[in-house]
Amino acid sequence: MTQTQAQTPILAIDGPSSSGKGTVARIVAGRLGWHLLDSGALYRVLGFHAEQQGVALDDAEALQALAQRLPVSFREQGGDTQVCLNGEDVSREIRDERVGELASRVAILQPVRDALLARQRDFAEAPGLVADGRDMGTVVFTAAPLKIFLTASAEERGRRRYNQLKEKGFGATLPALIEDIRARDDRDMQREVAPLKPADDAIVIDSTAMTIDDVVNRILDEAARRALVQSA
Ligand code: DC
Repeated sequence: MTQTQAQTPILAIDGPSSSGKGTVARIVAGRLGWHLLDSGALYRVLGFHAEQQGVALDDAEALQALAQRLPVSFREQGGDTQVCLNGEDVSREIRDERVGELASRVAILQPVRDALLARQRDFAEAPGLVADGRDMGTVVFTAAPLKIFLTASAEERGRRRYNQLKEKGFGATLPALIEDIRARDDRDMQREVAPLKPADDAIVIDSTAMTIDDVVNRILDEAARRALVQSA
């Protein structure tokens, strides 16, 4: 890291679901020794919690109140991050497709996004932060010195998601997953608040034909080129 940086350096990685950004963000954060923010997990926990509490997914006021005092915490465990709700590990539950759907629905509400803003910014701590989401570069960390927009074709993302779910023992069919991904893309891109789009100053990486390592190396090269790190 350069000595002249007054503020915590932030690497924003945005992109659609199953673009690989979660995996890439984790590896890059590990390689740099930086903190990691999985902002999608916050929306997922909120959707999950709302359902548990019987809060309607279009009740913006109630959801905002829930988001403001969301009892979520992140625990590092063996190189992985456990996501806890009320101290209970819900990492597995929140990765379910159904919870992704709930997250996508609460995420369209501006009061909810506002309530989660400060919480996300609190993750910016020395020596640096890798922030993974949809609006890291466009809303949450607009001054981030490096912004990446990671994407891939819907078919390729469907395949990746299918393999991921199979590995974890969840059932799914490929055509249904591709369909879900398209629907979620539409919702994330068309929504009025913080729509999914690359920041004007983002580097767009299409990972359809790239391996995870290719993407990681490309990002680390860029971080080094911009003097965010001594060497990558
Ligand atoms: O990245 P993910 O699949 O875990 O995100 C779940 C949902 O949360 C996704 O449909 C969009 C929403 N989300 C968002 O609106 N803004 C973010 N910064 C992160 C996620």
